[in-house]
Order: sequence, then structure tokens, then C-alpha cells
Amino acid sequence: MQDPDLMDATAFADGVPYDYFRELRSRPGLPQAQDAAGYPFWYLVRHADVVRASRDNETFRSAPSTMTSVRQDSTGLPLISFLDAPEHTRLRRLAFKGFTPARLAALEKPVAAIVDRILADVTAAGDFDLAEDVALQLPLEVLTELIGVPPDERAQVVEWTRHTVNLGDPGYRHSTPEKAVTAFSALMRYFEELVRCRRAQPGDDLFSALLAAGSDTAGRLSPQEIALFATTLMGAGSETTYCSVTGGVLALLEHPDQLARLRADRALVPTAVEEIVRWVTPATHFARQVAHDTEIAGRTIRAGDRVVLWYTSANRDEAAFDRPERFDVARHPNPHVSFGGGGPHVCIGRGLAALELRLFLGAVLDRLPLLELTAAPVRTATNFMNSFRHMPARFG
Ligand code: HEM
Repeated sequence: MQDPDLMDATAFADGVPYDYFRELRSRPGLPQAQDAAGYPFWYLVRHADVVRASRDNETFRSAPSTMTSVRQDSTGLPLISFLDAPEHTRLRRLAFKGFTPARLAALEKPVAAIVDRILADVTAAGDFDLAEDVALQLPLEVLTELIGVPPDERAQVVEWTRHTVNLGDPGYRHSTPEKAVTAFSALMRYFEELVRCRRAQPGDDLFSALLAAGSDTAGRLSPQEIALFATTLMGAGSETTYCSVTGGVLALLEHPDQLARLRADRALVPTAVEEIVRWVTPATHFARQVAHDTEIAGRTIRAGDRVVLWYTSANRDEAAFDRPERFDVARHPNPHVSFGGGGPHVCIGRGLAALELRLFLGAVLDRLPLLELTAAPVRTATNFMNSFRHMPARFG
């Protein structure tokens, strides 16, 4: 049998090809592949190699892009994911002011209210789409809360962001590349205006915190940097959480023993959240570019070569996890790399993601045994996210 082409979305049409990744992990050395344009990649499929590349950002650089489809940064914008030190260090340190433990704690109540309202709405509706109406709606609303978008402008911000998700999937009604470009510009313009308002009248919100971060001597974030960061958050924080909700619900329905165990012992919710994030691995991979010749898994990789960090494979690596094929809501330790393998770029929103998933699970657990999937879930056509575009459902 021919090896599947992991750069092609069709290899993921029926789900992540875990068996093939297992075989790749067992082969000596490093697999090599190329994209549609014939450009070569090295594949990092083992946990230890993904962690090493994530932590050694001097050698494995994020510029010009961490997307496999983009060799040059096509936006020309200084996106946090595509920067290296020292620019990345400065931006990350200032941006982190928006994610302090105090800011996260303050979000607990509003996020719980958003979860309750979304669940009440879909319960009242009867038939609903778990992907669109719950899994995507939840992070989109939470992000407008985090950013401090005024309530009557939230629906518009949510709508623009819907145009930027599931990109590349021809069957997704909200987004096409053209709609995504227009929506991205609209979001940028909107956030730039919001920064101006917050500068004139600071409050207890993310933009005011980011405007106040740093000092005139050590440097501050510009209004454009804050607007671009907010636009990045709307994308990075929505699609990933969305996959965790759909994939997490499916995992619990497919493992009724684990659902029963969790319902019987709510203290397991935090480990269940981590296990869902490992099991689903929302972002299947990110890429890096090698700055100088190096060696990994016994292979010499030359300066300028690109590597793909396959988080989805690392999270099922037998060398790092006890029985990785088992979905275990009490798994501990759980050194998954779903938020990245550590290092300077590790997900800045992981605390918020865990908060959302914890509150969602807490609110939905008792209703899950009543949940019926009314048609087969439809996968999103992508090799980048482990995602379902539609999941028709009803609470029986
Ligand atoms: C389950 C949910 C999530 C998953 C699985 C996830 C996954 C990831 C991954 C794999 C990376 C790249 C790490 C690396 O390059 O080493 C990343 C970076 C990032 N994430 Fe998340 N993420 C999630 C939720 C969020 C949320 C809720 C936010 C914001 C509110 C967010 C914002 C970001 C940002 C801004 C970066 C870039 C950080 C940097 O380059 O310094 N993510 N995330």
C-alpha cells in the first residue's frame, strides 16, 4: 500500500490516520515528504523530537511561518506565531498581561453564564448543530468577553470571525478565501477603533490592560499591535476550542464507562479536560524552519530545511504515554503537546481554554447521556485541524 500524503486533506477525511503515524514512529530515522509544490519537509512524529524542536527556538525558528502551506509570511503582518526572539519575546511578555491569573479568575462567572445560555438555547431549539451552535459559538462569545467588545457589537464580531474559520474547506458555508480576507480587514479596523476608544477612556478590559503594559522606556504595544493580537486571538482561540468541544463530546459518547466515571466523580473534570485535549489534539501540527545545521533522530538537518511537528502523533507516542490508545479521564501524568511542546511559543490561551472546557463539561455532563446525534457528524476537509464542521444533535 502506498503511504498516505499527510500534506493532503484527504488523508484525514475519515479521521486522523493514527495507524500510519504509529508506523512512522516505529521506522528508524526521520520521515521526509514534500508539499504539492515539491518543497521538502522532515516529519517529527515522536514526542521527544516534537518537545525538543518546540523548546529549541534558536535552532527551530518560527519565521517566516509556522504554517506548512506558507513558506513566506503571506500577510506581511507581524503575527505573534511567526516571530522569533527578540521581537517575539517583547510581544509575548506584553501580551501576557491579558492572561494573568487574576484576569482569568474574573472570566469564570461570565464564561459560566455564556455556557448556560448556549445550552438553554439549543435545548429550547430541539434540533441543533453541536459544532456550529455550541462548540464554535462558545469560544467566539468568550473571546468577545475577554477582549471587552461592547455587548451590542458582539454579534458582528462573531460573524466576521466565522468567516475566518474552517478555511480551505469548500463545504463550509461561512468561509471562502475572499470572505476571510474581507472579514480579517473588517476585524482589524474594528479593533483599531476599539483601541482608540479604550485609550481615551480606559476601563477594566483587555485592551486597557495591554495599553498600560510596559513602560515608555522599556517599550509598549502600539494600537496596531493590539488590534492584530486581538484578531489573532479570535482565530487561535476559537477554532481550537471548537474542536475540543466536538471531539470531547464524541469521545465521551464513545466511551460510556469514562462518562459514567466522570459523572460519579466531578473531581476528575480537570484531568478529563487535559485528556480530551490530548485525545483530540485540535491543531494536528505546526511547522518550523531550521536556522543552522542540526541533528535530530540521527539525521542531519540543514539550515533552511523545514520540519513539521506532528502533535497528533506525539500525543499517541507509546514512549511517552501509558497505553496511549486508551481514553482515560483520570490520566496522570499527561504530558500532552496539544498546546505546543513547551518553549517560548507555547499556547498563551491554554488557561482560558481549560477554563471554558471545565465549565462546559460541568454544565453538560448530566445531559450527555440524553444527547442523540441525529445524523453522522461531517468532518472538516483539512489536515491542520482535527475538526467537525457539522454535528447534528438533539437532547432526547
Ligand atoms: C484547546 C484549545 C487550544 C489549543 C489546542 C491550542 C493550541 C495551540 C498551539 C499548538 C499553539 C502553537 C504552540 C507552538 O508554536 O509551540 C498555540 C499558540 C497560540 N495560541 Fe492556542 N490553543 C488553544 C486555545 C487558545 C486560546 C483560547 C487562545 C486565546 C484566547 C489561544 C491563543 C494562542 C496564541 C496567541 C498563540 C501564539 C503564541 C505564541 O506564538 O507565542 N489559544 N495554541
